[in-house]
Amino acid sequence: MEINDRLFRLDGKVAVVTGGSRGIGKAICLGLAAFGADVGILGISPETTETVRAIEELGRRSLFLKVDVADVEQVKQGMAEAERILGGPDILVNNAGVGVTDPAEDVTMDLWHRVLGVNLRGTFFASQAAGRSMIRRGRGGRIINITSIFGIVGSELGASVYHASKGAVINLTRALACEWAKHRILVNSIGPGFIVTDMTAPIHEQPKLEELLERRHALGRFGRPEEIVGAVIFLASDASTFVTGENLFVDGGYTAW
Ligand SMILES: NC(=O)c1ccc[n+]([C@@H]2O[C@H](COP(=O)([O-])OP(=O)(O)OC[C@H]3O[C@@H](n4cnc5c(N)ncnc54)[C@H](O)[C@@H]3O)[C@@H](O)[C@H]2O)c1
Repeated sequence: MEINDRLFRLDGKVAVVTGGSRGIGKAICLGLAAFGADVGILGISPETTETVRAIEELGRRSLFLKVDVADVEQVKQGMAEAERILGGPDILVNNAGVGVTDPAEDVTMDLWHRVLGVNLRGTFFASQAAGRSMIRRGRGGRIINITSIFGIVGSELGASVYHASKGAVINLTRALACEWAKHRILVNSIGPGFIVTDMTAPIHEQPKLEELLERRHALGRFGRPEEIVGAVIFLASDASTFVTGENLFVDGGYTAW
């Protein structure tokens, strides 16, 4: 038995992260790079070049490819291009996501397709593209899906389609974990509680709602993007070689009540 303090290191690994311009995705990119991985980012925001620069300052290779994850063809091409330039991927983090605050009775087909297109279709086809490459190269790999507490609980916040998309990704995670175990591809997800990012910024303009939601976390507060990083490193590294099909909540106790 060999146990050492390099259990969490990712040196020599190539990670691909979707949606790394800001918030949770940016923190994940910087965390992966800090632990030694090169990081390719597939996303839609030109601001992602800032994340790329920060990764390079950590001494790792990086690149940004303009990819709308809802577009299956763009995802396929982006993943192939990332592989051509950086190698890998050894690790895929499906982080790109969109939220909504539309009451269920007002949801349109357009909204339905937009949210499921990014959160569910994007996650599935990015996983398929990375999974195909991992299977072909025969060295296993890690897929980490960013889900949400809203994947297992409901809310009164007008987020029904978002709830549906994240619930689907939690069970998609289990299905892929079972199918690809034979290829040594471990598939897990992380379910954050409320995290202070642009996605949740409107909540801070409504003090009563903010306080209500803070109290729903046992720790009594929202989390910060960097508080998701530890779980990602755990699931991306040798620290989790016997973990697959799991959804790890990083939610300040929101789902512990
Ligand atoms: N903030 C929270 O409270 C919270 C809680 C639980 C889960 N999450 C999830 O965490 C992930 C990141 O959320 P965040 O809070 O950092 O949000 P954010 O809005 O700050 O960032 C979302 C990122 O996804 C990218 N993106 C959006 N649509 C895309 C598309 N079609 N193609 C490619 N990239 C796209 C954006 O450019 C951005 O980089 C999402 O999946 C979200 O659902 C967030």
